Amino acid sequence: MAVALKERTLNTAAELNGTASTLKAKILDKTAKVAVIGAGYVGLPLAVEKTKVGFSVVAIDQNEARVEKLNRGENYIFDVKDEELAHAVKTGKLTATGDFSVLPETNVIIICVPTPLTVNREPDLRYIINVTEQIAKHLQVGQLVCLESTTYPGTTEEVILPRLSQTGLKVGEDFFLAFSPERVDPGNARYTTKNTNKLVGGVTPACLDVATTFYSQTILKVIPVSSPSVAEMAKVFENTYRAVNIALVNEMALLCDRMGLDVWEVLDAAFTKPFGIQPFYPGPGVGGHCIPVDPFYLAWKAREYDFSTRFIEVAGEVNLRMPYFVVEKAGRLLGMHRKSLRGAKVLVLGVTYKKDLPDVRESPAIKVIQLLLMEGAEVSYHDPYVPELSVTLGYGNYNNSKTVKLTSQPLTEETLRNADNVVITTDHSLVDYQKVVDNAQLILDTRNATRNVQENRENVWKL
Ligand SMILES: NC(=O)c1ccc[n+]([C@@H]2O[C@H](COP(=O)([O-])OP(=O)(O)OC[C@H]3O[C@@H](n4cnc5c(N)ncnc54)[C@H](O)[C@@H]3O)[C@@H](O)[C@H]2O)c1
Repeated sequence: MAVALKERTLNTAAELNGTASTLKAKILDKTAKVAVIGAGYVGLPLAVEKTKVGFSVVAIDQNEARVEKLNRGENYIFDVKDEELAHAVKTGKLTATGDFSVLPETNVIIICVPTPLTVNREPDLRYIINVTEQIAKHLQVGQLVCLESTTYPGTTEEVILPRLSQTGLKVGEDFFLAFSPERVDPGNARYTTKNTNKLVGGVTPACLDVATTFYSQTILKVIPVSSPSVAEMAKVFENTYRAVNIALVNEMALLCDRMGLDVWEVLDAAFTKPFGIQPFYPGPGVGGHCIPVDPFYLAWKAREYDFSTRFIEVAGEVNLRMPYFVVEKAGRLLGMHRKSLRGAKVLVLGVTYKKDLPDVRESPAIKVIQLLLMEGAEVSYHDPYVPELSVTLGYGNYNNSKTVKLTSQPLTEETLRNADNVVITTDHSLVDYQKVVDNAQLILDTRNATRNVQENRENVWKL
């Protein structure tokens, strides 16, 4: 049944009232003061980028340690350059606080707080709601509020707008509201905040106009769309696209394992086709703040429309199964050496969710360690980026009876020789894989990290 589509036209040349024109003028001459709420992986690079073109930025974060560090000019986010942050703080362009009462002094408010899932894999909008209530308390005529956190389509207009409208101020006239998704790819040196195209959707044409003007000051190409929901949906689609394609290659890996084929060789062969295919690679699961989380935001919202997002559910199922498969295969390989997982010494190599980055959020390697420990294996790990790691045993919130604290072991020949099984879960470039292969008794390589090692491969098994 087709329902009439409530069409919104993309009006980039909006008629602006005096309030909007004044705000635009402040943005253009950089006298607009910017507040970035949530100074994390997304918020901090954005804050520093804005100072570089002349804006004064206040970072608002509830994490006191982060606020103190920022005010001392100390960096804690990989993608931010130490000297750029230090310069922004030293010149007074960047300050930090945990106090929302600074908001009335600002003209542009950017929200970059987390959007995680609950233990039952439902959207947890607690952070967005908290900060929106704080903004509502301090909302002023002439402010632009823009959400950058990834979320389901409808959040800006269904969750944020009603709370801000309760102040009595009118959107598009007194204040301006937009959604502009962050697309940062941590560790990607080629595509940065500045040269990654930015989508913007405004609640009204004036909102879109003001928000587009703001982002155009620091980003090379800003692409306006007709509503916040379009921008919200586009962002979730981008991450769902990745989740589904990764699940597809993960399923291929499971099938190839059953059929005795090398999935990496199969994929390398398939990706020689110069068109119609894009490379994705299997692994021990998906990690990070986005891929394992965002598709479930969409799946949850879809249910409101009697719609089941089957691709998302299936992809989630396949990707979630991968750490279990890794542990099962690690046990199978030990069996070939007449050993079992129970009591086996397993060295996990790499615990971050992505190579060459220090981020362990939602890392599948941690799930692998958790499952190995629950199987009774003696687990140690090595990761040049993660000196310590806490792993909770059990599922959800209920059985968290035990937390195991581990410290990264030096990757010596002895450490490698002592392990009954070395499971490579992250393919950091810093690791000497020839040394790993030369010394380990048995290796399960879930990332094809040993791809370039030619000799002594008899004990290497790939995913
Ligand atoms: N990390 C990425 O690569 C990435 C990429 C694109 C989009 N996103 C999205 O951006 C959003 C933020 O992600 P992130 O990776 O920057 O998260 P993060 O955890 O690195 O940073 C969030 C910050 O918000 C602060 N915070 C939380 N609640 C707060 C509150 N009530 N008041 C003030 N500060 C508060 C936290 O202390 C933290 O410093 C998420 O929606 C995420 O999905 C992340």
